[in-house]
Amino acid sequence: MNVAGTGMPSHLWFVVSNITGADRVVIVNVSSDDEGLGDLDTLVAADHPWLTHTSSYIRTDRALLATVASLTHGLAAQPAALIPQAPALPATLVKLQTALANSQHTKRGIKRVLVEQPTYDRPLKILRELGAQIVGLSCDEEGLDPEALEQALREGEKPAFLYLIPTFQNPSGRTLSEERRLRIVDLAREHDLLVLEDDPYGLVRFEGEPLPSLLELSGGETAYSSSFSKTIAPGLRVGWFVLPEDLAREIELTATSTYITPVLLGQATVHEFVSRGHFEPNLERVRELIGQRRDAMLAALERELPNVRTTRPEGGYFLWAELDGVDAGDLLARAEQAGVTFVKGTDFGGPADSLRLAYSFVSVDEIAEGVGRLAAALPAAV
Ligand SMILES: Cc1ncc(COP(=O)(O)O)c(C=O)c1O
Repeated sequence: MNVAGTGMPSHLWFVVSNITGADRVVIVNVSSDDEGLGDLDTLVAADHPWLTHTSSYIRTDRALLATVASLTHGLAAQPAALIPQAPALPATLVKLQTALANSQHTKRGIKRVLVEQPTYDRPLKILRELGAQIVGLSCDEEGLDPEALEQALREGEKPAFLYLIPTFQNPSGRTLSEERRLRIVDLAREHDLLVLEDDPYGLVRFEGEPLPSLLELSGGETAYSSSFSKTIAPGLRVGWFVLPEDLAREIELTATSTYITPVLLGQATVHEFVSRGHFEPNLERVRELIGQRRDAMLAALERELPNVRTTRPEGGYFLWAELDGVDAGDLLARAEQAGVTFVKGTDFGGPADSLRLAYSFVSVDEIAEGVGRLAAALPAAV
C-alpha cells in the first residue's frame, strides 16, 4: 500500500474525458483536411503556433498566456516575460542552473544558495550536483523565519539566490504568512537577493484565503514558476515561468540547451482544456477531493497518534510529522514491512525524527488503514 509515500496526485483528480476530448480536438485539427485545418499555414493562421514551432519560446499563444496570468491571482505579468514552459521541476532545474551560472563565485570558488529547511528534495539533489554550498534556513509554522534569512545575508558571502516554496510547501505543507512575505521581499531588495519562487500547489487550496505571491509583492522582481501538474494532470508536462526581463533571456537559452522545447502538444491540450471552460470546475473538484483526504489524514492521526505533532496544511499534498526522538529511518523499515510507506524528513534536510506524509494519492479508506498501520509500527512510547 503506497499510503503517504508518493506525492503524486491520484488518477481520480483527472476528468479523463475532458483531457482526452481536448487532446482529440488538437489531433483532429492537425489531421483533418475535411475542415481545411490540416495544412500548417492554416494552423498558424488559426493561431496554433505551438503545433508548428518546435524550438522557440517566443511564438507562444497569447490566449494561453492570458489564461495563465489570470490563474495566478493578482499576477502583474509582463507578457514578454511570461513563458509557457516545461513543468515546474524542469523549470526549476533551469532556473537553478541559470541563476547559479549568473552569480559570482564566492572567495572560495563555491556558490552559496539559501533554501528553507526542510525543502523539496529534488532541488537539493540538483544543487548538490551543481556543487553549490546549500544553507538551510530555519522555518516554523509561519514558514521561513525572516530573522534566519537576515542573519544568513549579513554573515555569509552573497548568495546566488534563495529557493523558496512559500505556499503549501513540499515537504511541510506550511504556508509563509503575509507579514513574512513582505519582510522577505524587503530583505531581498535590500540585499539584492534573487528569489526563486516555486509555486506548484498555490491553487490547490481547501480552506482560507489565498495570499499574494512574492512575485506580486515584489512588483515582478521574483523569478516565479508554476505548473498545471497539480490542477490538470502531471503527465501533460506543462508549466510556466514569470521572470524579470533580464533573467528571461538567460533562462530561455538554458532551457533550449536542456530540453530543447516545451511539450507543445501538452500546451495545446491545456489550451483546449482551459478554453472549453473545464479548468475552474476541475480545480473545484481537485480541491474538494484532496481536501477530503487531508481531513481523513488529520482525523486518523488524531485518533491513532494523538501525541505526534503534525502541521495542518490549508492546501497542497503534504503534512509534516515530528516523532519526538524516534528515528524515522528505523520506523520506515518497520512501516514498510507492515505495508505502509512515507518519506523520511532527512531526505528534505529535516531532523532524524521527522517525516513527510502525502495524502494526495490514496483513498480516504486507505488513509485510515495506512495511519493505523503506521501507529502499530511505532514504539509504544510515542
Ligand atoms: C515544490 C515542487 N516543485 C516542483 C514540482 C514538480 O512539478 P512538475 O510536475 O510541474 O514538474 C513538485 C512536484 O512534485 C514540487 O513539489
